[in-house]
Amino acid sequence: MRISASLSLAVLALATFTASAQTPAKAPTKTPAPPQVAQTPPMGWNSWNYFADKVDDKGVRAAADQLVSTGMKDAGYIYVNIDDTWEGERDANGVLHTNAKFPDMKALADYVHSKGLKIGIYSGPGNKTCGGYAASLGHEEQDAQLYASWGIDYLKYDLCSFIGDVLEKQAPNDPAEQMRIMQAAYVKMSNALKATGRPIVFSFCQYGWDAVWEWAPGIGGNLWRTTGDITPHWDRIYAIVSQQEGLEAYAGPGHWNDPDMLEVGNGRLSLAENRSHFSWWAILAAPLLAGNDLTKMKPEIHDILTNRDVIAIDQDKLGKQGSRVYSDGEVEVWTRHLAGGALAVGIFDVGDSRYSTHPFHLNLAKLGLHGPQTGKNLWTGKPITLTNNQPLTLDSHDVLLVRIDAPK
Ligand code: GLA
Repeated sequence: MRISASLSLAVLALATFTASAQTPAKAPTKTPAPPQVAQTPPMGWNSWNYFADKVDDKGVRAAADQLVSTGMKDAGYIYVNIDDTWEGERDANGVLHTNAKFPDMKALADYVHSKGLKIGIYSGPGNKTCGGYAASLGHEEQDAQLYASWGIDYLKYDLCSFIGDVLEKQAPNDPAEQMRIMQAAYVKMSNALKATGRPIVFSFCQYGWDAVWEWAPGIGGNLWRTTGDITPHWDRIYAIVSQQEGLEAYAGPGHWNDPDMLEVGNGRLSLAENRSHFSWWAILAAPLLAGNDLTKMKPEIHDILTNRDVIAIDQDKLGKQGSRVYSDGEVEVWTRHLAGGALAVGIFDVGDSRYSTHPFHLNLAKLGLHGPQTGKNLWTGKPITLTNNQPLTLDSHDVLLVRIDAPK
């Protein structure tokens, strides 16, 4: 199949070449460029991390209102994403209906759009979603058309029951075949979304299986989860961050590694931990999908989520994901290369006790820097100079995040 397909492509290319060599060139017909989504990591809000199955129409409207009134929209948070538990039953024609929590999805989408925001939704390739609601198996085209008719702009597609429903039934004990079937399921929905003609961000959620970063971009994935679920705990956040090593090569405009949605403002994370979490996501060029209750956001959490300097690191046009350069005891130094030759440096105290590796002496040469570097401390907003061997003290789980515009 493959050989004959590429042979016929070669024949076609030759025929085209011969034809164009013999006949005068026609005026180029104008075809509109395909709409480009996720040129920078998607930003917005998602219902799951705080509301889980309590999400409803009213809560989504409130989140949209808050994105506008808190200035988060102006800071770049555009997508209002409904996660699992919106789904009802399919009718005799296979058309999926919403459940009682979402009386009119089209009206909700119109409301979100009227605020200058975009709206996202959730499904999966299996029979059921992770929460046990109806998913898209056998109804992919129908569901994609339904989303488009509502005006949906973003789809998170979660593997979940596909594992038991399909993979383990169709290919028991054959992991390689299971991975092929899983990829085909994502291709199917990708094509179904494309066929709607509507630009829809496609978010893969299959927890990083089968090195998804290697194949997702080629089949229309705009972002893909790299790990299991996040929780609002330092240990979980740090474990996820540590699993991103080596993935930086796979991210770029239109296609991003997704270490999961933000927990900033959730649980009992300290302010230092919230700052570190947000700083890491910016260095990792991660999607910034706030996961807190925006109606009850404390000012200090608002200030973290709307820190424009840190958001600018995340949204940097170069789209180059950063990485951990070195660690010394319990202090880690991360960098991200930015457009125009700038550099973000994040120094994280990952130790549980403030004095574990303190004072920490910064080694600029390890970052490829020579001599004093002037920059901006992005969490105080003040100028800072980093020098070689500089002793730095950081609170436990806190971060020093610096932008150096002209590194030497
Ligand atoms: C999985 C996903 C979560 C969330 C839930 C919803 O656990 O990883 O992000 O979408 O399903 O049921």
